[in-house]
Amino acid sequence: MLQVSDVEVHYDGAIVALQGVTFTVERGGLVALLGPNGAGKTTLMKAVAGMLPFELGEIVAGEITMDGASLKGVHPATITRRGLALVQDGRQCFRNLTIGENLRAASFLSPKTAGERLAMVFSYFPVLQEMRERPAGFLSGGQLQMLTIAMALMGNPKLLLLDEPSLGLSPVMVQSVFDVVERMHRDLGMTVVVAEQTVPRLLKMATDLYVLSRGRVVMHAKPDEADEEALQRVYLS
Ligand SMILES: Nc1ncnc2c1ncn2[C@@H]1O[C@H](COP(=O)(O)OP(=O)(O)OP(=O)(O)O)[C@@H](O)[C@H]1O
Ligand SMILES: [Mg+2]
Repeated sequence: MLQVSDVEVHYDGAIVALQGVTFTVERGGLVALLGPNGAGKTTLMKAVAGMLPFELGEIVAGEITMDGASLKGVHPATITRRGLALVQDGRQCFRNLTIGENLRAASFLSPKTAGERLAMVFSYFPVLQEMRERPAGFLSGGQLQMLTIAMALMGNPKLLLLDEPSLGLSPVMVQSVFDVVERMHRDLGMTVVVAEQTVPRLLKMATDLYVLSRGRVVMHAKPDEADEEALQRVYLS
């Protein structure tokens, strides 16, 4: 479904953030993208979603395709319309709008089926239904994370990219967020990529594992075949 081939990304014409990165996502897969701080996880997701130009980032080599069509140089709005949703690590939403209004705003791609999708999203996140009148600015970090994932689902994406969804959450909240990710993958057949530093739960549910370090892919394995010592070395170095 997604093919990143030999991609190199520079910021500001000087900082090399990714080098020779090849990354494949099969339809229906749940891919774990691991790596320590500064490894390039966010950069890879932004490159795929067309978000690099907003940060003076540039794909200087390689190719990125979704379902065979190039995503390079394509505007992020067009990429979203083609079925890709990126949930960024900053939990972006409209803080002065309520949960319900944020979800409605996020259904602009398919307004006709918004009612159906809202019911589905509320079945995944009952807490959002209970709090639908509350402004997003008054939510906890975990509730905001649920809202931003729910907003992505309102667009009915075929490929969902989640950038460090567990960041700053309590262990219980991390479990609830990953429960939902697992259900979306299993029940909706959604293809998902999750970037994280380390989350053992993610390794248990992933179908594929990529590890980035200093802008390069240093490991690609099936999660149950991953060499734990090699994985630890990536983080220690
Ligand atoms: N907007 C930017 N401008 C310049 N350099 C950047 C920018 N964003 C990231 N970088 C650099 O690119 C490299 C990769 O960063 P990136 O944010 O992709 O890593 P990451 O794996 O997501 O890290 P983290 O786990 O801390 O989120 C780092 O060296 C970082 O300093
Ligand atoms: Mg990041």
